[in-house]
Amino acid sequence: MVEKIRALLKKRNAILLAHNYQPPEIQDIADLCGDSLELSRKAAQTSAEVIVFCGVHFMAETASILSPEKTVLLPRTDAGCPMADMVTPDKLENKIRGLSSSKKRVPVVTYVNSSAAVKALSDICCTSANVISVVNSLEENEILMVPDKNLARYAAMHTDKKVHFWEGFCPYHNLLTTKDVQKARDTYPDAVFMAHPECRPEVVQLADVIASTSGMLAHASQSDKKAFIVGTEVGLIYPLKKSNPDKQFYPASLAMECRDMKKIRLEDIINCLESMTPQVNVPENIRIPALKAVERMVSL
Ligand code: 13P
Ligand code: SF4
Repeated sequence: MVEKIRALLKKRNAILLAHNYQPPEIQDIADLCGDSLELSRKAAQTSAEVIVFCGVHFMAETASILSPEKTVLLPRTDAGCPMADMVTPDKLENKIRGLSSSKKRVPVVTYVNSSAAVKALSDICCTSANVISVVNSLEENEILMVPDKNLARYAAMHTDKKVHFWEGFCPYHNLLTTKDVQKARDTYPDAVFMAHPECRPEVVQLADVIASTSGMLAHASQSDKKAFIVGTEVGLIYPLKKSNPDKQFYPASLAMECRDMKKIRLEDIINCLESMTPQVNVPENIRIPALKAVERMVSL
């Protein structure tokens, strides 16, 4: 199957991208692994005509926003993100209206884990790695953050601005409790605890390192510490071990396994490259304003 995929990628002049949470066999054959924005930005710089995105729907949309001239394939249409689905354009417009006055529209900071249509209604995007700088870069003293309430609360701890948050969350990161962290710390007393800002604020407060998936990979490689408790989706353990074979990585909770991130199989990649479906296209009336919000973040 791996040989077949490589041959099809060549035939289609395609690049295979895998998010850090994808299953090991997919990360192993990918041309690039990383976090969602990093992957889309790198893919936009290549001469490939086709992007096969092994991740979830909003990630393929971001690739399409940044590379409208390329064909973007998502090997499984049912690979979505429950958190991204917690905010819809209609509901967001209502909320913006409720928080805005006739003179001033509340600025909207949108986490990249969101649909293109929601990004299109936003002033600026953010990632888990740059959220604090993005929030503090805005002139306004009052902002709305969507869709992750945990990321918004984390940002609120690092700004003087009033942060209105959306009631969204990642069902997997939100599962991690302070009790789980205490248990892991008792079992591995010398380990560094790394937490993703999608975790609950009380969990994030216990962390030695707060980082995105790529931030955790970078930290573990640079650190002289030998053991780490990993407070994010369990798929990250594989690239952490692969890049640091002399170090130990322990999941903070085995319950943090994202079902959508595990849907794509090698045969789905073969099928999509053979049929050139399913494609993800963002219509221009959504792509242009969504791109503006992404570019504002990137330029910052
Ligand atoms: P990052 O890889 O950007 O940290 O995102 C985490 C995540 O939950 C992606 O779905
Ligand atoms: Fe969405 Fe959470 Fe899965 Fe990431 S881990 S795709 S945020 S549900």
